[in-house]
Amino acid sequence: MNISVKNLEISTHKTDCHVVAVYQGNKLTESAKQLDSASNGYLKTVIKRGDITGKLNQTLLLHDIEGISAQRVLLVGCGKAKELTANQFRSLIKHVATQLHRYKLKDSALFLADIHLKDLDQEWKIKHISQVMTQSLYRYNKTLSSNNSKPVLKKITLHSAKKDTKIANAAKIGQAVANGMAVTRELGNLPGNICTPGFLASEAKKIGRQYGIKVSVLNEKQMETLKMGSLLSVSRGSRQPAKLIVFEYKGATKAGNPIALVGKGVTFDSGGISIKPGAAMDEMKFDMCGAASVFGVMRSLGELKPKINVVGVVGATENLPDGLATKPGDVVTSMSGQTIEVLNTDAEGRLVLCDALTYTEKFKPKAVIDIATLTGACVIALGKQGAGLLGNDQKLVDKLLTAGQTAADRAWQLPLWEEYQDQLKSNFADMANIGGREAGTITAACFLSRFAKKFKWAHLDIAGVAWDSGGNKGATGRPVPLLIEYILSEATRK
Ligand code: BES
Ligand code: MN
Ligand code: ZN
Repeated sequence: MNISVKNLEISTHKTDCHVVAVYQGNKLTESAKQLDSASNGYLKTVIKRGDITGKLNQTLLLHDIEGISAQRVLLVGCGKAKELTANQFRSLIKHVATQLHRYKLKDSALFLADIHLKDLDQEWKIKHISQVMTQSLYRYNKTLSSNNSKPVLKKITLHSAKKDTKIANAAKIGQAVANGMAVTRELGNLPGNICTPGFLASEAKKIGRQYGIKVSVLNEKQMETLKMGSLLSVSRGSRQPAKLIVFEYKGATKAGNPIALVGKGVTFDSGGISIKPGAAMDEMKFDMCGAASVFGVMRSLGELKPKINVVGVVGATENLPDGLATKPGDVVTSMSGQTIEVLNTDAEGRLVLCDALTYTEKFKPKAVIDIATLTGACVIALGKQGAGLLGNDQKLVDKLLTAGQTAADRAWQLPLWEEYQDQLKSNFADMANIGGREAGTITAACFLSRFAKKFKWAHLDIAGVAWDSGGNKGATGRPVPLLIEYILSEATRK
C-alpha cells in the first residue's frame, strides 16, 4: 500500500473516499469545518438530521457531495472532544479500515490526524494511523483452499496541515512496524507441521537475503560442540532437528555494541513427557511467537535501515515426548556449565533460552532482551493487556516500559527480588527448572537471570499478548511495536 502525508485541500483532492471525523456535540474538527464550508453547510445539515451524532466509531457514508471532488465521504464519530484515548483512537482507525475494505475502495484520504488527543502529537497520530491501516491488510491464507478476500486498498493519503520530515518519517515507521508484525503473525499462525525449526531457519535466510541482513544457522551437531546441553535436552524427543538461528543487522557504521534480541522458538509445545492436557493444546503452535517477533523486528529494520546494530538469536525446537525424550528428574548441563534438574519437561522455554542467552555473550551486547511465551502464570497475572517485564537493569526496564506505552504495546514490570531465587533450589543440580506454584512468571525469570549475569538484560513474557484465542484466534504481532520503538529511540539517542 502506498502511504503518503500531504496538506490536502479537502474540496478539490480526488479520491474514492475521504474520511472525516465528527465529534459528539457541536464541535467540528478542522477538516470537518472545511468540509462543511466547501459543501455549503451540508455537513451541519446531516448532523442536525441526527443520522450521525459523533458517538465513537459510528459511521455514515455520503456520496457525491456538491463542492467535494471525492466520490464518497465517510464520516466517523470520534466521541466527545478531548476525551478520546490513544487506544480508542487506534480502534477508530481500525474501524475505518474495515469500512474502506468493506466497500472495496482503492484510494482514500484520511483527515483523521486533526482529532485532538491529549499529550499526543501529530507525529504519533500519523505513525499510528499508518501502522493500523497497514495492519488491517493482513490476511491468513497459507492453508486455506479458498482465500480470505484481500483488501483492494492501494493508496492512502494522510492529511496533515503540519508537514515536515519527522512527520513523513512517522508514516514510514508505522508502515514498517506493521510489515514486521505481518511477518510475526504469519509465522505464528502457520501450523506446527509446516512451521518447524527447519522452516524457521529457511525463512530467516530469506529475510536475510531480501534485506541484506547476515543470517547464520547452527545445527544440532554445532550446538553439541558448544555444549548447549539444555537447549538440546528439549529437542531430544522430536524428529525435527533443533536450530539456533542468528541474525546480525548492521546499521551502525562503526562496530558498535549491538542490542541483542533472544527469542523462544518452540514450534510446538506438547509439554514433552510432562504432557499438557488436551484442551487448547493446538495453541501451543504459537509457542514460537517470541522467535517470530525477532523475525518481524528484523523485517522492519531491513525496511527502515536505522543506524544501530541489532543481533537476533532464536532457539528453535519442538517439545515432544518419545523414548529418547528428556524425563522429569533428568539433569542436564547448560552451555554456561551450570547444571539443571528438569523437574517438569513442560518448563522447556527457559531451557532453550538459557543456552541462547549464553551464546549471545559473544556479541558483547550493550543490552539483551529475551522475548518468550514463557508462562501460563503471566496470562493469569496480566491477561491480554500487557506483557510481563522483568530485568536486571532498571534503566533498561524503564526504557522498555516507555517504549511500550508510546507504541500502544504495553508491558508491566514484575519484581525480580533475590528471595524468589530460593524457589529454584535442587538437591541434585545447581538449580531446578521450576519453582513451584507461586509466582510462576517471576521464578521463570529468576531462572533466566542466572544466565544473564554478563550483560544488561530484560525479559518479556508475552504468553498473554502474542495471540488471541476464540473466534479471533491468531497471532497479534506483539511485541514488535514495543521493540521497534525501543530500538529506534536507541538509534537516535546515540
Ligand atoms: N509455552 C508454555 C507457556 C504458556 C502456556 C503460554 C499457556 C501460553 C499459554 C510454557 O512452555 C509452559 O508450559 N510453561 C509452564 C511452566 C510450568 C510447568 C512451571 C506453565 O506455564 O504451565
Ligand atoms: Mn511448556
Ligand atoms: Zn512452551
